[in-house]
Amino acid sequence: MLCLLLTLGVALVCGVPAMDIPQTKQDLELPKLAGTWHSMAMATNNISLMATLKAPLRVHITSLLPTPEDNLEIVLHRWENNSCVEKKVLGEKTENPKKFKINYTVANEATLLDTDYDNFLFLCLQDTTTPIQSMMCQYLESWWRTMRSCRDSSGLSGPCPGTYGTCWT
Ligand SMILES: *[C@@H]1O[C@H](CO)[C@@H](O)[C@H](O)[C@H]1NC(C)=O
Ligand SMILES: *[C@@H]1O[C@H](CO)[C@@H](O)[C@H](O)[C@H]1NC(C)=O
Ligand SMILES: *[C@@H]1O[C@H](CO)[C@@H](O)[C@H](O)[C@H]1NC(C)=O
Repeated sequence: MLCLLLTLGVALVCGVPAMDIPQTKQDLELPKLAGTWHSMAMATNNISLMATLKAPLRVHITSLLPTPEDNLEIVLHRWENNSCVEKKVLGEKTENPKKFKINYTVANEATLLDTDYDNFLFLCLQDTTTPIQSMMCQYLESWWRTMRSCRDSSGLSGPCPGTYGTCWT
């Protein structure tokens, strides 16, 4: 699989479709994903989705809001008309608890690949209508993880320098 990696210092595994996704409901506790996340790295199998600032899936996920009905609201930032704007994308639940139907530019499906709830989450947005099932995947870190990942000169833990909460440039 062709794989492009834009990275902020984190390696991302390619060949994402081969990853095993448990299919039972108990395996995903959606409410535990609620909150602020930071996009740390992204990859795609179709460069045209991410190549330019205006590319449809050049997006920065900032939080996840599971609904009581097991749907998933995805909040993201992207460039539009030279400014960084916030968008909310509703993911409708499907029979597969890790897949959500979305309607956002070219993407029609969001997939939660893997998470430990506290620290990391792999999430993909896909266009299942194209010949190669175009997808963009992100490695996200939780706000908590980000807050304790760096120490300043006095030894206090705090957020690492970065561009959290803004658009990918
Ligand atoms: C961006 O500009 C286009 C065309 O000028 C306009 O239709 C659209 O509403 C604008 N979007 C935002 C978020 O301002
Ligand atoms: C997706 O959104 C577009 C524009 O808002 C709308 O025209 C289209 O019918 C929607 N498609 C689905 C499957 O909801
Ligand atoms: C790559 O994505 C673009 C934009 O959605 C799409 O038009 C094109 O068909 C995709 N390429 C392939 C090989 O699927």
